[in-house]
Amino acid sequence: MKSLEVDKHVNFLVKAATTRGFEWEMTEYLRMSGIYWSLTALDLLGQLDKLPREEMIAYVFSCLHENGGFSPAPNHYPTIIYTLSAIQVLVILKALDQLGEKKEKVIEFVKSLQNTDGSFIGSPDDDEEETDTRFSFCAVATLKLLNSLNAIDLDKTVQHIKACQNFDGAFGVRVGSESHAGQVFCCVGTLALLEKLDIVDQELLGWWLADRQLPCGGLNGRPMKKEDVCYSWWALSSLVMIKKSAWIDHKKLAEFILSAADEEMGGIADRPGDIPDPFHTLFGIAGLSLLQYNNNLELDISSSKENVKLKPIDPVLCLPSYLLHEK
Ligand code: FPP
Ligand code: ZN
Repeated sequence: MKSLEVDKHVNFLVKAATTRGFEWEMTEYLRMSGIYWSLTALDLLGQLDKLPREEMIAYVFSCLHENGGFSPAPNHYPTIIYTLSAIQVLVILKALDQLGEKKEKVIEFVKSLQNTDGSFIGSPDDDEEETDTRFSFCAVATLKLLNSLNAIDLDKTVQHIKACQNFDGAFGVRVGSESHAGQVFCCVGTLALLEKLDIVDQELLGWWLADRQLPCGGLNGRPMKKEDVCYSWWALSSLVMIKKSAWIDHKKLAEFILSAADEEMGGIADRPGDIPDPFHTLFGIAGLSLLQYNNNLELDISSSKENVKLKPIDPVLCLPSYLLHEK
């Protein structure tokens, strides 16, 4: 098995977060999530101090709007997805306290996005029917991190997720939508946070998720699709949440993730030979962390430092576990 080249990945992540140029401009619309991906990956690798903490915190607050939502960049609209990323960044940087009185505003923002049927829209300007189970997850995860789950209608939230479960045991974007492993993560994650995993047909869902592993070892997001490193997170973390991660071949998955790393530049791509990016780098490393701690898989992690191990990751909130237990 190839080894995880820690130093190269750290260089790649730091470069992606600090180099100003064409790519930086082009990714402005998702910058807050980009910061979350880079910081989380660096923390899992034990190198959080490689990015300037105060600058990152100031950036997060420059994206906080009057209505309590966060945007990806200062001149963009706030949405629930970037609000979760912003809160995740503040948790990683141990700066959640700096929200102060604005915490109530953030809670109000999340609350304002819930429809009467329990579903969520992504931002205040969206039409009522523009719901997505990603938004349910982001809303519930944000409130969980703010210790304020009771701000929304939790029963309706659960009822809506239940209504999105399909005949194959998996979940889609909204009621009746095609099953998709990314949405499975969001629905199972929402139920895990609300301690309602018992309403899921876990056997059926386990089969559907295990079926995502292809002969190359990688996982896909839906039947007939190509393997993609990010599903090493969306699908594997869902299997971990329903305690069925042993249903796939861990060694083959780890080999697939490591084979998608760029040997020269560092970083991980969606599949071997493609260009690496911070999104797939985080979800590849996060997948490896799950494999290491759920199967005692011995990974060869090369680094200038001795005895480096990836930090354990929380399968629901996708944050290094130590941050959540300290709270
Ligand atoms: C695949 O997207 C992934 C999803 C649909 C899940 C997205 C999840 C969130 C926004 C919640 C984020 C939270 C955490 C904790 C990380 P895709 O558009 O790449 O799908 P495709 O493979 O079909 O193109
Ligand atoms: Zn992907």
